[in-house]
Amino acid sequence: MGRFLLLLSCTLVSNYLHPWRGTNAQTMFTIRDISISLEPGSDVMRGTNVTVRCQALVSSSGTGQLSREYTIFKDGVTVYTKTTSSSGDLLYRLPDARVSNAGKYKCNINIKGKQMTSEAKKLTVTGLSAPLLHLNNAVVSEGEEVTARCTAPGETGSIIFYFYDDAKEILEDRVNSNLSEVKLRFNTVGIHKMYCAYTVLVTPNSFRSDKSNAVTISVRELSITPVLEIFPYSNIYEGDTIDITCTIRNLMPDMHGNVHLYLSRGTQLLSRGDTNVNHSMIALAKDSEEFECRLEMGNVVKVDTKKILVTELFSVPTLSMSPSEVFQRDHMTLSCRSDSFASERLHRDELTYSLDPPESLLLPKGTGVFSGKALLYEFNYTCIAQAKGIRKYSKPLTVIPKVTVSTPRISVVGRPVLGRPIKVLCQSDIGSLPINYTLLKDYEILSTASVKMPFEQALFTVTIHQPDEINKLMCEAMNSPKEAPLSKRLDATVVVPLSHPTLTVIPVLPEIAEGDHLFLICGVKGTPPITFKWYRDGSNNPIFTTTSDKNNTDYQIQALAKGDSGTYYCEAVNHANNVVRSTPVTIEVRLALWKKAVIVGFCLLMVSVLVVVIVLCFRSKRGKREAAAELSVKPSSPKSDDSLTVILTHDTEVNNAAPGKVERVDISVWSERPPVTANDEESSMVSNEPDVEYTEVVHPQPADPSRAPLKKGTETVYSELQNSPHGADDHQGYGSVEYADLNGEQHEMNHYPVEHSNCQDLPVPVD
Ligand SMILES: *[C@@H]1O[C@H](CO)[C@@H](O)[C@H](O)[C@H]1NC(C)=O
Ligand SMILES: *[C@@H]1O[C@H](CO)[C@@H](O)[C@H](O)[C@H]1NC(C)=O
Ligand SMILES: *[C@@H]1O[C@H](CO)[C@@H](O)[C@H](O)[C@H]1NC(C)=O
Repeated sequence: MGRFLLLLSCTLVSNYLHPWRGTNAQTMFTIRDISISLEPGSDVMRGTNVTVRCQALVSSSGTGQLSREYTIFKDGVTVYTKTTSSSGDLLYRLPDARVSNAGKYKCNINIKGKQMTSEAKKLTVTGLSAPLLHLNNAVVSEGEEVTARCTAPGETGSIIFYFYDDAKEILEDRVNSNLSEVKLRFNTVGIHKMYCAYTVLVTPNSFRSDKSNAVTISVRELSITPVLEIFPYSNIYEGDTIDITCTIRNLMPDMHGNVHLYLSRGTQLLSRGDTNVNHSMIALAKDSEEFECRLEMGNVVKVDTKKILVTELFSVPTLSMSPSEVFQRDHMTLSCRSDSFASERLHRDELTYSLDPPESLLLPKGTGVFSGKALLYEFNYTCIAQAKGIRKYSKPLTVIPKVTVSTPRISVVGRPVLGRPIKVLCQSDIGSLPINYTLLKDYEILSTASVKMPFEQALFTVTIHQPDEINKLMCEAMNSPKEAPLSKRLDATVVVPLSHPTLTVIPVLPEIAEGDHLFLICGVKGTPPITFKWYRDGSNNPIFTTTSDKNNTDYQIQALAKGDSGTYYCEAVNHANNVVRSTPVTIEVRLALWKKAVIVGFCLLMVSVLVVVIVLCFRSKRGKREAAAELSVKPSSPKSDDSLTVILTHDTEVNNAAPGKVERVDISVWSERPPVTANDEESSMVSNEPDVEYTEVVHPQPADPSRAPLKKGTETVYSELQNSPHGADDHQGYGSVEYADLNGEQHEMNHYPVEHSNCQDLPVPVD
């Protein structure tokens, strides 16, 4: 307790010595609450004495006074501040409250930087005062100024005033007071009934008042008026001169310098002046001519308007051409004419026509008629009709002279084939469309075609039945009635399709023998070049292919061999592209003559041997019996096939075995064939064809006396033997092909590609 007193006394002493520091430094406080209230209520009528009460609850220690800083906000805007040391409530008075006082109120307290804000309270004030309108004059002249004053008694805040003239809003004025004064002018004569009203802006709302009292004002007409005069006023024709005056009637002396006149036609201002305006002009035929005389004095505007009707003196000319189409340099006539004219004012002779541009190279031939030669190019003509100083232009006429068609060219599309449809093209390089083309055969019309579009072509389809018929074709082009140039005759060759080919064999068929030089000639009718192909034994691959500019070509086999036997046929194709095939021919190669001779010779030898043996045998038997001579006989080996040794015996058994031996000997002689050659190639060739050889031996053919000499056969054998190593190297297929390879003359031909294809893919010969 004593300690507390000591502290207190120390504080008091201290405060006494340093009052400013002691009070502030020593007082402890806290703001506990702050509240706001509206009295007598938050919803009041206009004119109520409203009080905003701000109540702060502050706890503090000590006796020192705290400086309280109050702020009142209305709609977020500060409306009142007060600093007080009193602890009582803060009162903010709104005497005679107005609508403008309505809003949300808040209160803030600040003590030494420590502050607190109350919640918001909304104040609503209903009812606005009635506006009052007053005019400073009850009777005015038109255009005269009137001052109108509208007041909103007792209202505050931001107010917009509206002024009404006969219920039509004429003015709006925004002010921050309850009074608006505006200047008004009246342009319409008579009684005007006026009133005003206002709106108070209270964010975010606005409140509108009732109408004010009505005030009437009488507007007198000014005697001043504009006068518009036009002479002549009726029966006006194009080209007539018209005089227009714009003047003022009842001009008062005091108005001078204050008045202006404007004369206009449509939107075109013709003239302006102060007291009168004169204007002179040539009448033109327009849809309508409306003139206005306008008087302006201050903001008083008075107008006088008049409309005149101008009759057309002559109509707009039209330009036409005859004939309607012309070719370059053709004669043409242009006619220019106005369809109607005012005969009561204008004589036809007064109306003159001319062409524009004047250098159009056409000469006048009578009124409005111009003639001459058409130009080579497009040209625009315009004509002018003229009378009494009036010029009228026609619409431009574009003359595009046509170009005569040039001599056509005739050509054939693709390769013409006899008997098949061919396409013939007829074409002129220049000439205006449409062009009519006619296809002729010896001047006889076959067909016609009309070309109407650029890049269109005249294509005719014809079928040729005789090869020379194609050269009789011509065509004619025509685009004007005057000329029809004719093309040359069609220079083209028609391809004649191939006939059935024939395969000719030389030498004559049954006489073909080994070693002969064989010609297989394929012949056909039709247009060369022709591709020939030879086939053998039904193979799909030709053995030889060649293209020839002749109608027959041969395939040769030099030095026939047995293996060349077979069935042959040939095929041919030309540009007509139809493949034709010959009848097959079967060739059988017979044995060579020298071989036959060898066989015959051998047979004769064998017969001789037999005869000798028989004779010897006979003799020995007779001697045995008669002379009892002894002979020692050695046994012979039955297997000694290769031996040519002939054992002579007296035994009947041995004799019995003789025929068999002879047969074997035959074979041995044949198969060895040693005298000329013993090399491997030869023997291998022989081994290819043993059976046929054998049969030949058994049934030899009689030698034909008319055959080629034996010498020829021998030569063939030699060449065959010399060449055979070659043949054996690439011996794969038919012997005939091998022989052909060896033939020096035909060597080049054999390099022709042999196509392994069917008829469709046959190579088409090239020219
Ligand atoms: C409002 O207060 C004024 C004096 O400040 C007083 O004359 C008036 O009668 C009061 N109005 C109302 C409605 O109480
Ligand atoms: C217009 O013409 C009238 C007579 O027709 C004349 O008295 C007046 O001076 C003229 N006004 C002007 C501006 O030329
Ligand atoms: C003619 O007139 C037409 C359109 O008016 C224009 O397109 C054309 O170029 C003119 N021709 C010549 C040759 O002036």
